[in-house]
Amino acid sequence: MEGARILQSGGVVAIPTETVYGLAADAFNENAIKKVFEVKGRPQDNPLLVHIYKLEQVYDICKDIPKEAERVFEAFWPGSVTLIFNKKECISDTVTAGMKTVAVRFPKSEIARAIIKESGTLLVAPSANLSGKPSTTNAEHCFDDLNGKISCILDGGSCSIGLESTIIDMSTPEPILLRPGAISVEEICNVIPNLIYKKELLSVGNSDIPKAPGMKYRHYAPDVPVTLIEGEYTKTSKWIKENVNKNDVIICFQEFLSEFNDYKYVYSLGSFNKLNIAAQKIFDLLRECDKVENVNHIYIQAPKSSGLGSSINNRLEKASSGDIIHI
Ligand code: TXA
Ligand code: MG
Repeated sequence: MEGARILQSGGVVAIPTETVYGLAADAFNENAIKKVFEVKGRPQDNPLLVHIYKLEQVYDICKDIPKEAERVFEAFWPGSVTLIFNKKECISDTVTAGMKTVAVRFPKSEIARAIIKESGTLLVAPSANLSGKPSTTNAEHCFDDLNGKISCILDGGSCSIGLESTIIDMSTPEPILLRPGAISVEEICNVIPNLIYKKELLSVGNSDIPKAPGMKYRHYAPDVPVTLIEGEYTKTSKWIKENVNKNDVIICFQEFLSEFNDYKYVYSLGSFNKLNIAAQKIFDLLRECDKVENVNHIYIQAPKSSGLGSSINNRLEKASSGDIIHI
């Protein structure tokens, strides 16, 4: 496979995973890792995830793996939960931005695992978007952001989940949720009920150490300003109708589309009863809105904050830089 050959020789390749596309490079090649930071325009103090293709590999690169983590392995791996452990010597400070811990991801996507295996190494892979932009969920998004900067995008079609992995810090006395994501907090609490989940910890600009994306940097943001409208669905729909200019962009649930027939740019998140569809669509819609000319503002009807809805809202709150209206 051409992609694997490029990775072996120290190149950077965009690869599909079940969550979002990743910007992959050899986790043991310092120059290759540096290229990833460079291509993305990623701040040096924001660490990278290491992707493995079989469970044993987590023991090769991490130490102090607690019993709880083994329950998570059993329930969710391979899958869209990333776990953080104390790192072994073999993982360089360039990967972890100087931290003593490393984040490990064991993707469910068979294509992703095949690429890691064939490259004969482990791969660092942050989301394959320019730093600060919405993540990429298909090869076209990768092309839009990375054309001219990397030589290979492996096209695996659209990502089946569309939202990044859930990140849990397992290096602390109790496991801490650092990023809600593809696997809901509720599902994880069924396996590790002592999971610590504090919303304040996950919001924008409250930490000097960027433990997870958005903790320090603006993230997922289109160029056009975004306002998020949170509350009961009929109320948020009514608010949008009463307050939003007919030339602004509206992203709302399918059930309310007919309310906005006289608006120029209206995009559907699918049904509010199927938030997995909203998860698949959200980054694509944020990118799509950026392409609409002469638009001043994007208004988004927020999903209910439970299950996958909490993870989607986490991204939207960051995309809006905290410009949120609660009805
Ligand atoms: O689904 C995903 O997780 C995708 C796909 C490609 O695997 N990857 C992804 O990577 O979302 P990225 O870099 O965009 O987000 C992972 C975040 C980093 O930005 C960083 O803040 C956090 O995980 N992270 C990485 N290593 C860490 C560590 N040692 N301690 C705490 N947080 C860490
Ligand atoms: Mg990212």
